[in-house]
Amino acid sequence: MMVGENIVSFSEIDSTNRYARDNLDRLPSGTVVWALSQTSGYGRHQRIWYSDTGGLWFSIVFKPSLIREPNEYTKVVSVAIAETMIKMGLNSVGIKWPNDVLIGKRKVAGILTEAIFLGASVNAIVVGAGINVNNEIPEEIGQIAISLGMVMKKHISLEVLLDRVLKRVEFLRKNYLIRGKNRYLTRRWKKYLAFAEKDEITVSLPNGEKATGIISRITPSSLCLETEDGTILEINSGEILL
Ligand code: BTN
Repeated sequence: MMVGENIVSFSEIDSTNRYARDNLDRLPSGTVVWALSQTSGYGRHQRIWYSDTGGLWFSIVFKPSLIREPNEYTKVVSVAIAETMIKMGLNSVGIKWPNDVLIGKRKVAGILTEAIFLGASVNAIVVGAGINVNNEIPEEIGQIAISLGMVMKKHISLEVLLDRVLKRVEFLRKNYLIRGKNRYLTRRWKKYLAFAEKDEITVSLPNGEKATGIISRITPSSLCLETEDGTILEINSGEILL
């Protein structure tokens, strides 16, 4: 089934990712769970994801038969969101490794991918995306977050935006992922990266420590950082600090 052919929508739910995980058995591949607001939306690293009315909060269920690498689906969705925004005429859209979508230096969208295992193999992949659209940005994240409405200075239809993003997801999935052209997809993803090889960055690591260095290699699943003393750190999970 095509992505978005089946949309399950709610005016309010705890979390679309949680709903997708809990109801996997009866949601065919490609199903989208969409909610106007979430009471316990969550992000990466167990963080709260503010999900007031006005934003676009949805999750896509993938039940892949071939490509079972969760990262590939995250990449499809981040590139789809970035390209949709570029098509809407927005400048300075970027992807911050691994998959945050930025406008300028502020985050406009975040993606959370969860893999569901059956025994040792991946049974389903749920990719949740949160896009700040017409919602108010809470004060505590006002410096680091931005909404599409703020940038475009108008109200944006969530339905139209969702439809555009899903069409793009389906296009990228069909033409790159399932045709085995993942390399071209990675190339597209790299093109949008706000920080790339040779840039100096500071990353906060899951253990709470911070590391500063020059990016020596960057892929959707890992980032290699050469620190001042010449050590190369391979980072699989972390957050680039702006
Ligand atoms: C992040 O940047 O940490 C990822 C944020 C992902 C938020 C979305 S909103 C829809 C879906 N449901 C959730 O509870 N989280 C994701």
